[in-house]
Amino acid sequence: MAEIRSIVNQVLSQLGASREARYYLKQFSSNDSSQFAVIKIGGAVMDEQLGELAAALAFLRNLGLMPIILHGAGPQLDKALESASIVTQKRQGLRVTTPEVMAVARPVIYRANRKLVYALEEQGVRAQGIQHGVFECDYLNKKELGLVGQIQRVDLEAVRDVAQRGILPVVACLGENPTGQVMNLNADIAARELIWAVEPHKIIFLTGTGGLLDEHGRIISSISLRTDLEYLLKQDWVHSGMRLKIEQISRLLDGLPDTASVSITSVENLTRELFTHRGAGTLIRKGESIIEHHNFSPQEQEMAVKLLEQSFGRRLGEDYFDDLPLECVLRSESYGAMAIVLKGVDGLPYLDKFAVTPEAQGAGLGAAVWQALIQRCPALYWRSRAANPVTRWYFEQADTAFSEDQWVAFSIGIRDFGQLERCKVDSLQRAESWVEEAEHD
Ligand code: ARG
Repeated sequence: MAEIRSIVNQVLSQLGASREARYYLKQFSSNDSSQFAVIKIGGAVMDEQLGELAAALAFLRNLGLMPIILHGAGPQLDKALESASIVTQKRQGLRVTTPEVMAVARPVIYRANRKLVYALEEQGVRAQGIQHGVFECDYLNKKELGLVGQIQRVDLEAVRDVAQRGILPVVACLGENPTGQVMNLNADIAARELIWAVEPHKIIFLTGTGGLLDEHGRIISSISLRTDLEYLLKQDWVHSGMRLKIEQISRLLDGLPDTASVSITSVENLTRELFTHRGAGTLIRKGESIIEHHNFSPQEQEMAVKLLEQSFGRRLGEDYFDDLPLECVLRSESYGAMAIVLKGVDGLPYLDKFAVTPEAQGAGLGAAVWQALIQRCPALYWRSRAANPVTRWYFEQADTAFSEDQWVAFSIGIRDFGQLERCKVDSLQRAESWVEEAEHD
C-alpha cells in the first residue's frame, strides 16, 4: 500500500502543481469516506471506455478515496430490445416498461454491472455489484408506464457495508416494490435520489462530451447557479436538452449543502477535474451571492488585505485604504473574489484591484464578480501589467486596449475619444499600491 501511495503521489505531482493536488486530496479525504463522491456513469461510457474508466476509478481507490458508483445501461438496453424486435415507447422521457421489456432489461443491466465490476477487479480494485435493495419503489403510473418505479426510499445499508469493508460499491439502476417486484428506473432519477441520500461532497457525471458546451461548442468551465442561472436559461443557444440538464442539476443541488458541487467531465479528464483548481469539465455549484459595499469595515479590510496579498503575492502599502475614493466594492460571500472600484476621471469608475484566489477561479467566482461588475459599472476603465497572466483575459473582455511599456490600459463602454484619452492617461500614471515592485496590478 505504501508503495502504491508513493506511485500515486508521483502521478499527482505530474498533474502540475502537486500542491494543488494535495489540497484536493486532503479535502476529499476529510469527509466521512463514503461521502466523498457519487459518480454516475452513462451507459455509453460503460460501453466504449470500460478499460479507461476502470483505470480512472482504480486511481481514486489507490488514493484511498471511496466513491459510490452508479451506472445506467440505456444504450445496451436499446440494442438488446432491437435485436429482440421489441418496440418500446418513451413517455415524458421514461421508457414504458412492459413485463416483456423488463425480461430483456434485467439481464442487460446485470451484465453491465458485472462487466464494470470485472474491469475494476482486473485493475486490482475490490468491487462489488449492488443490483437490488437500494431503491424502494412504488409504481409511478402502472397503467401508462408499466414497471417504471417511483423511488420511495433509498436504503444505503448495503452500500455502506460494502464501502466500510474497503470494497467499491457499484450500484445498478434497478428498484423493487415492497413485495419484491423488480422495477425499471430512469438513471437520472435514480442518481438524484441516491445523491440526496448520500449527500456527497462531489457529484460526478462521466459523459462522452465531458461537460456542457457553449454556443461555440467549447466546454463551459464553471457555472455558479446563483449568479448565472437566469442568464443561461435566457440564451437561445441553450437548447432544450441542456436546459433540462441545468434545471435538473439546480434542483439536485438545492437538496444538498452549499459546499456540494457537480462536475460533468469525461473519463480522460476525471483526474484533472478533481485534482486541479482549473479542472477539466464543467463545474456547477450553487455559488455565492455577490455583495456590494461602499466602505471597508475593519473586518472587511482585514479580509481584503489577505485576499489581495495572497492573489498578487505582494505586500499592500500600509496607507492603501486611507482616503480611498471608493465607488464600490464587489465581492463573493467567502471573499474568494473581489473587485475594488474607485471614482476616477470624469467620475467614471476605475477598477483598481481585481483579485481572485485560484480556488475561487475554479469555482467560477471570479467570473461571477466580473459579471456583477460589468452590470454595476457598464462604463469602466483599468490597467494591467502586460506580463500578468490575467491580461490576456482582459483583452477578451475590453472594448479598447492601449499598450505602453509594461502596462496595458483597458476600457469598456466608454465611447467618447477625449474621455478615453483621459482615462488612459489617468490609469497609466497612477502610483503603485504595493510595497515592493508588484508582479501584477
Ligand atoms: N478540483 C476542484 C473540484 O473538483 C475544482 C474543479 C474546477 N473545475 C472546473 N471545471 N472549473 O471541485
